[in-house]
Amino acid sequence: MKIAMIGTGYVGLVSGACFSEFGVEVVCVDKDEEKINKLKAGECPIYEPGLENLVANNLAAKRLSFTTDLKTGVKGADAVFIAVGTPSRRGGGHADLSYVYGAAKEVAEAMDGYTVIVTKSTVPVGTGREVKRIVAEARPDAEFDVASNPEFLREGAAISDFMRPDRVVIGTETERAADVLSELYRPLYLLETPIVQTTLETAELTKYAANTFLATKITFINEFADLCEKVGANVQDVARGIGLDGRIGNKFLHAGPGYGGSCFPKDTLALVQTAKDAGAPIRIVETVVDINEKRKTQMAEKVVAACGGSVANKTVAVLGLTFKPDTDDMRDSPSLVIVPELQKAGASIQAYDPQGMKEAAHLFEDVVFCEGPYETMQGADVLVIVTEWNAFRALDFERVKSLLKTPILVDLRNIYNLEDMKRAGFTYYSVGREALAAE
Ligand code: UGA
Repeated sequence: MKIAMIGTGYVGLVSGACFSEFGVEVVCVDKDEEKINKLKAGECPIYEPGLENLVANNLAAKRLSFTTDLKTGVKGADAVFIAVGTPSRRGGGHADLSYVYGAAKEVAEAMDGYTVIVTKSTVPVGTGREVKRIVAEARPDAEFDVASNPEFLREGAAISDFMRPDRVVIGTETERAADVLSELYRPLYLLETPIVQTTLETAELTKYAANTFLATKITFINEFADLCEKVGANVQDVARGIGLDGRIGNKFLHAGPGYGGSCFPKDTLALVQTAKDAGAPIRIVETVVDINEKRKTQMAEKVVAACGGSVANKTVAVLGLTFKPDTDDMRDSPSLVIVPELQKAGASIQAYDPQGMKEAAHLFEDVVFCEGPYETMQGADVLVIVTEWNAFRALDFERVKSLLKTPILVDLRNIYNLEDMKRAGFTYYSVGREALAAE
């Protein structure tokens, strides 16, 4: 089997490398020459655990190759995956599909012989059908089918999510196309991975349903956290108490500063637009978007309150800037709102992130980036944990106290145990749990 992967962003690169690991011949295509040259040299443009090794091994085995020349990549391919970006369009939130449609046209011009054109990018309902129209118009002679095969990869765990997925969703219109995709995913049959075979539209919508449901689950527990704080309950215990019910499930019930990243914020917005356009608004997701947006500002207010109502002329130490751990991705990270809000309120910021600082340097102004967690706390009035990197989970409390001017810790990810914090003598604020005052 031979496939081409158009776009070597997060989804394209992980999927391409993983398919090659399955033994498929994969050509990854991207217009960005610098990126392709790096990849050819075995260098990974993004931080994702395990990816660099996977790319290097499959390059060496000659199952994986990289090119800027779409024609060569597509030639002889049984399937061509479109995995280019679908950013939110300015004003509104509709997904911008110009890259997807541009790629479809180029693929149409390059393909030879029967080809399945698969959209892997997260695309609104109806995109697959439009891709079909574009290809048929560009190449009326061509023998092809279109398919939708959304991805469910989490950053930081993408390789295991690809290799051991909960399910694979394949939307096709013909048996021939379904056979090609089933053959590609055959290695997963050994793991008895459920394959959901469906139509194009259903597959496209399933992806949005998954992401918006998860965003809703997070927002639900975040609002419960606020209520817990008001009535003296503990949100972690509430989450455990409901999560053990198999109908609810215990995942994605961690209260925090609001969801971020390259997917949930963009996909919730896009779904809201799709649903409005279709005349079937999904109001629950509209509310989720609104709550999540406000939540980030509320987190800055929480820090201000922890400092006695003002951070003017105070130094705030921030640990973690990325939207979640094990990634260098800063897209829509809650820190992008929390830090500027604190600065607006008069605070100076010292910050550290294990992987995100290079990216963060372009996104913040007047932030002092530090070499490690302890350097960040030096002389600060308050310590704030924004992202739950493992490196922050076992801080030496005595050392932290000796470095901070006042022992105030705001833990927006609930990584510490209340008992431990009580014993360590911190003024400790977390999310949806009792606040502790230092004795
Ligand atoms: C998400 C989905 O989990 C993937 O299944 C999907 O394939 C991907 O989007 C995508 O559409 O490409 P990802 O954005 O990498 O993956 O990250 P998540 O682990 O889902 O976290 C998203 C955000 O929710 C983060 O800001 C995280 O901190 C937050 N979160 C997550 C919580 O606040 N609480 C939780 O319990 C879980």
